[in-house]
Amino acid sequence: MTSPSSITIRRPDDWHVHLRDDEMLLAVAPFTANVFARAIIMPNLKKPVSTTADATAYRKRIINATSKSAGGSGFTPLMTAYLTDNTSAADIENGFKTGVFTAAKLYPAGATTNSESGVTDIEKISAVVEKMEELSMPLLVHGEVTNPEIDIFDREAVFIDRVLEPLLSKHPALKVVFEHITTSQAVHFVRAQGPRVGATITAHHLMINRSDMFRGGIRPHLYCLPIAKREGHRLSLIEAATSGEKSFFLGTDTAPHTVHAKESACGCAGIFSSPAAIEMYAGVFDDAGALDKLETFASLNGPAFYGMEANSDEITLHRETWKIPETIDVGGGEKVSPFMAGSEINWMIS
Ligand code: DOR
Ligand code: ZN
Repeated sequence: MTSPSSITIRRPDDWHVHLRDDEMLLAVAPFTANVFARAIIMPNLKKPVSTTADATAYRKRIINATSKSAGGSGFTPLMTAYLTDNTSAADIENGFKTGVFTAAKLYPAGATTNSESGVTDIEKISAVVEKMEELSMPLLVHGEVTNPEIDIFDREAVFIDRVLEPLLSKHPALKVVFEHITTSQAVHFVRAQGPRVGATITAHHLMINRSDMFRGGIRPHLYCLPIAKREGHRLSLIEAATSGEKSFFLGTDTAPHTVHAKESACGCAGIFSSPAAIEMYAGVFDDAGALDKLETFASLNGPAFYGMEANSDEITLHRETWKIPETIDVGGGEKVSPFMAGSEINWMIS
């Protein structure tokens, strides 16, 4: 089968992005906003974006940082609420009804970067979850248990049994996005639910397995949460992403940390993929012989899940080799290292 030398798709959206704040925001946001029309913005700033007022202010800062992006037509940040044990259902309702919040994010406390203020017990937010169910407001889930005795490679699969399945049974109309899935158990679970459950899949989880983190030595820039799993899981994710099924859509989870913070005795979790994200997804779909499914995954399934129109403009990618930069300056003398830094990539945005 011959593969095309270029592909044109509706402009994609990124349904899971960390843009950070201040100088880092200014440095990284254009990579997302130049390509994607909309993005779901993660609320795990050092001081979490937990109220409608916080999100209104953060949205302004993002718009200032990206005002000339997305093909000139303007980039739209879609804001999320960081749920805590003390989140007010009334504020979530107000934020959603006034168009500030698109969704709310559940970080189990201690699961990942800046999740210390997250939810300690799902029961503590049952009033908020009931309200979200009533409003059809999506709950975005970091799906890992936090019990230290559970092996890090099992935390997603255990989360399905202990938290997600009971949550969905208790709230039969709740819309849920199982974020950045990494296991075949998650693929099977999402498939078995109806249209109210979706899942995002990152480019890096389609490209690396857990052995890659230790290829020739320890590679801190490949460390993220959920951590990459065995090869069989990666193959399940590729199969799901390229299937065209409506439940699976693009979410890069691009999550920049400075080189200092990554290359440390206790390095931060997060992979910064936005400088070549759509190009890397195109490479994965191409290798799988599924370029014809890229648009469905990147540009159609996400908006359909969120009840939005797909974008009307288009982007074209063509086959051309270029090199991902080693580092990107983020101000204050600090740098971030993109995913696959220094490697060649075979697709380019025209
Ligand atoms: O690797 C990750 N990095 N996983 C997350 O869930 C959070 C993210 C971050 O904010 O750095
Ligand atoms: Zn994330």
